[in-house]
Amino acid sequence: MNNHPSHIAIIMDGNGRWAQAQGKNRTYGHEKGSEVVRSITTYCAKHPEIDRLTLYAFSTENWKRPKMEVEFLMKLLQKYLKKELPTYLEGNICFQPVGDLTSFSDSLQKTIEEVKTATQHCTGLIQSLALNYGGRDEVVRAAASLQASNTIISLESITAHLDCATDVDLLIRTGGDHRLSNFMLWQSAYAELFFTNTLWPEFTSDELEKIIHKFKKVERRFGGLH
Ligand code: FPP
Repeated sequence: MNNHPSHIAIIMDGNGRWAQAQGKNRTYGHEKGSEVVRSITTYCAKHPEIDRLTLYAFSTENWKRPKMEVEFLMKLLQKYLKKELPTYLEGNICFQPVGDLTSFSDSLQKTIEEVKTATQHCTGLIQSLALNYGGRDEVVRAAASLQASNTIISLESITAHLDCATDVDLLIRTGGDHRLSNFMLWQSAYAELFFTNTLWPEFTSDELEKIIHKFKKVERRFGGLH
């Protein structure tokens, strides 16, 4: 048994608790979390069997957080994308955001578009940040787009109209909770689910490597017998 996880998706949870445990503001945890985004992305880019990494950075429900935290996350995201463009290019990493980007400020949308365009020729890892993303919202937007183009509904046509048409092989959630929180619902139909108590700011490529090792030992049957 030697299955490679071609598409890894991660629910990055625990930033706030990590910061608060050290007597710091929750935003400090997001800042540290963004460094872990870079290190995990770089690790995946160096492993050619991993084609795609999708990270849950901001959900359709995260707007309910205090205004100050939402504004901080928006600024952090913009800062991250600008600062890390060289990391994308040096690592041959193609940035493909998923989610409904229309709710973001013009300035943030412009930065997202710039990094997407600047990295579209990259042939290595595809890194997706899920931004204003919800799995249900993604399916609704796909259905609306099918209706608008008068396309027949089928498994294939819905999949093709999603933000991400690629199945998730390995879905990881940090931070100790055991739920999907509206993340990649369609794409995770046959994903292997791994949960760790590690808070996202303390998640390392060593732990990811151990999870991948366990994943490779799992017999995946996709509803069949073997
Ligand atoms: C969950 O932690 C994390 C988020 C809601 C946002 C994820 C954001 C990052 C990892 C940093 C920003 C990312 C980029 C790419 C710049 P939480 O706040 O729910 O933690 P808690 O469960 O401990 O409260």
